[in-house]
Amino acid sequence: MKTEILAKYAARPLPRYTSYPTAAQFTPEVGPDLYAWHLQALPEHQPVSLYVHIPFCDTLCWFCGCHTKVTQRYKPVSEYLERLKREIDLVAAQVGPRTVRHLHWGGGSPTILTPEDIIDLEQHLFRRFSRTEDSEFAVEIDPRRLGRETVLALAQAGVNRVSIGVQDIDPQVQQAVNRLQPLSDTVQAMHWLADSGITQVNIDLMYGLPHQTVDSVAATAQTIAGLNPSRLSVFGYAHVPWMKRHMRQIETASLPDTEERWRQAEAISAVLRSSGYVAVGLDHFARPDDPLAHAMLTGHMRRNFQGYTVDAAEALIGLGASAIGSLPRLYAQNATPIDRYSAAIDAGHFAAARGVLLSDDDLLRRAIIERLMCDLSVDVATVCHQFNAGPDRFLPAFDALRPLADDGIVHLDAWRVTVPREYRALLRLAAVAFDAHTVQTETPRHARAV
Ligand SMILES: C[S@@+](CC[C@H](N)C(=O)[O-])C[C@H]1O[C@@H](n2cnc3c(N)ncnc32)[C@H](O)[C@@H]1O
Ligand code: SF4
Repeated sequence: MKTEILAKYAARPLPRYTSYPTAAQFTPEVGPDLYAWHLQALPEHQPVSLYVHIPFCDTLCWFCGCHTKVTQRYKPVSEYLERLKREIDLVAAQVGPRTVRHLHWGGGSPTILTPEDIIDLEQHLFRRFSRTEDSEFAVEIDPRRLGRETVLALAQAGVNRVSIGVQDIDPQVQQAVNRLQPLSDTVQAMHWLADSGITQVNIDLMYGLPHQTVDSVAATAQTIAGLNPSRLSVFGYAHVPWMKRHMRQIETASLPDTEERWRQAEAISAVLRSSGYVAVGLDHFARPDDPLAHAMLTGHMRRNFQGYTVDAAEALIGLGASAIGSLPRLYAQNATPIDRYSAAIDAGHFAAARGVLLSDDDLLRRAIIERLMCDLSVDVATVCHQFNAGPDRFLPAFDALRPLADDGIVHLDAWRVTVPREYRALLRLAAVAFDAHTVQTETPRHARAV
């Protein structure tokens, strides 16, 4: 990418569009009662997806942007699990018996649970919900201090996909972000998983971290590709110390600048593509035989709070502190502080604390933005037709895209908008043109575009 283009666009703060409207638009108007109403309104027998949040870790990585809390004791985890089970009961009572298409445990680090608690939570869930042969059960894994018994418990619980946090294998980088993770931990985890029949593995890598260089991230990507995960997520470090105080531990002077970040992302991409992976969406890679690659080719890929997915369920129910649910007309997020979440559940009601109702206009814009984020291309008139709307309302969006088209970042062809693959890192610049809520400012509310 040309230096001028980077200088012009890359530092702009933009949402990641894992939802539309984005979490920045959530307000306290969505509370337990409204959430309960929308849960009850789900069409009967429609399958759902579930996201379970485990907001605990053994240690804190300085780069971490997730909702998590460090604990050395297990008591807070056990107490939290009791609330989680009660929340599952509340949801089950509201939506009735349903099939779960996708179950995702994320965090924080779900592998902080004891093997007994993994089985206990899984059994609790599947006493109230059912699953089918092809249901997906995915869990995020921190390979540090992972025990073999934990992996066996995951397999016994029916987990068939995992995501392993690696980020970078260079000891100097690991030191600077407070995440010491010898490569042997990751290799051991992969072996245990394969031995217990869990072969669908995603690995998270990051660029833009302190002391990373183009050569060092390429070396990490090469080594990790050698472990042959089925997918990789490659995240640019979002440095938001005004939101996450612990990020102040990372010296700003040690962070790569915009051009260097771009070159790092490109270097990782080149290594992964030459290792046989295909680029998927904004920041993912997949083996060509992986369902995500297939979904991308057939235009069936979806985007949700966990990133890119093949999950087509209309309702994603969030469970646990800070978890976000996506219902047909509502996004609802549970209270983030664990004590506030627990107090709500103890009082016998839902913990929804903020969210947003979706208007007809939001649904249409959401569909356009989702196709762009997944396919890097969208025919606005076709999507409008599906919603019985005329495309003319998007003329201002096309006006806003024209300068990007002049710079070659988007191609405009009648009502079709396409972002060339080489500019996929700038995809969100095209998406924001269809966003009626996000006011574009230089104030850093979101992470930067690159
Ligand atoms: C919940 S963690 C994954 C599971 C486990 N806790 C671990 O770290 O191994 C989610 C992932 O988000 C990514 N991540 C966390 N903070 C980030 C940030 N500030 N910017 C970009 N990516 C971030 C990391 O790649 C991390 O693996
Ligand atoms: S990156 Fe993962 S392990 Fe590190 S603090 Fe965040 S959630 Fe915990």
